[in-house]
Amino acid sequence: MPALDPLLQPTRFEWGCATSSFQIEGASTADGKVPSIWDTFCAEPGRIKDASDGRVACDHYHRFADDVRLIAELGFKHYRFSIAWPRITTSNNRLNVAGMDFYKRLLDALDQHGITPNATLFHWDLPAHLEGGWLNRDTAYRFAEYTELVARHLGDRLPRVATLNEPWCSAFLGHDLGVFAPGVQNRAQSLVAAHHLMLAHGLGLQAWRSVQAQTSLGIVLNPELCDPLTDRPEDVQAARLAEWERNDCFLNPLFGREWPDALLEQIGELNAARRDGDLAICAQPLDFMGLNYYTRSIARAPVTVNDAQRGYTFVAPTAPKRLTDIGWEIYPEGLTRVVQNLQAQWPLPPLWITENGAADNTGLAHGAVDDGMRCDYLLAHFEQVAGLIRNGADIRGYYVWSLMDNFEWAHGYSQRFGIVHVDFHTQKRTPKRSALMLQKLLRE
Ligand code: FCB
Repeated sequence: MPALDPLLQPTRFEWGCATSSFQIEGASTADGKVPSIWDTFCAEPGRIKDASDGRVACDHYHRFADDVRLIAELGFKHYRFSIAWPRITTSNNRLNVAGMDFYKRLLDALDQHGITPNATLFHWDLPAHLEGGWLNRDTAYRFAEYTELVARHLGDRLPRVATLNEPWCSAFLGHDLGVFAPGVQNRAQSLVAAHHLMLAHGLGLQAWRSVQAQTSLGIVLNPELCDPLTDRPEDVQAARLAEWERNDCFLNPLFGREWPDALLEQIGELNAARRDGDLAICAQPLDFMGLNYYTRSIARAPVTVNDAQRGYTFVAPTAPKRLTDIGWEIYPEGLTRVVQNLQAQWPLPPLWITENGAADNTGLAHGAVDDGMRCDYLLAHFEQVAGLIRNGADIRGYYVWSLMDNFEWAHGYSQRFGIVHVDFHTQKRTPKRSALMLQKLLRE
């Protein structure tokens, strides 16, 4: 039976599980909730692999009390979730009391079970009525107002708050590749969206601190580890471009640094969207940074015209590489390499691994789910975390993605990341072997 490295013992290291609002809550029109861009995106034919949506999802909105009990039973003392902006505000960006009450009830339940909340303010479910979305500078100011609202109503109950989850996905999957909401495909615009997201982060931190100075504040990123397919100079350059887009585009502003020239060239005349003084707003002091890590990428010199605009083409991993069910390479060493790569370039605050996990679609058999691949995946990544800490990295916690199977964005319900199985017809939750393994590890 595996054991936890002494450096990861729950007495000195924070263990949690993670979810996000759109992926689990359902109740998409309940109590005055307004549509998010993911509600409207799901309604467009062909956007979601299994033509599903988030209208019911895990029905967590109605079942949160049982779900919190389950988190406690599994032995977690920390829970990362996100607050749905379109649930707690009206179409005028005013408070929706009923929506806010849901999060108060959730916090009460967590409190009753001795579980510390770790909240993210934006995990992609942008209110659909905000015209232009992240392409409109005003959205950053609306985010600051929303942030202030949360700080006023929940701030004294939230010890740690992240502004954004993986802004790279909102910017580039949403506005360049167009596979995420809002489904735009425009390279220069995706860079404008990236800038407005980071501006929102900075304005949000200012707004929160003006209300609640005590909260530990940060952001959750998914930095890239991108290896070149070959050592040909054009492939090496392509891999660097991919990393600049994924890392420098977000980390540089956080520390008041300008983007690399290659990104400035790609944004072209839309660079006018980046105004004097913006960089100083983005670079607010950070109390922590959350890192999400799943896999690495391999890049080669661009092969299509669209790829030429971005400067790289990703090469899908194939056998003999080990893959999870979603097709992502299992590459635990990448976690160490990503952290070391970031440490070498930016003055990082304390780190939390805010997401890590695997799509293992093993189903129920005789009332149990034997997700051995996920167990191996998790244990291999715990080892990397322990190794990093041993070598001096300031990593304070680890959150497994995800508490339960849920709506996996453009993949719909076809990919299962949960350590708890969800039957989406009956909403029955069944802890998988990975959940029972974690329960045992955390108890010892
Ligand atoms: C991350 C997202 C999370 C989940 C996992 C699998 O990029 O933050 O919501 O979808 O991937």
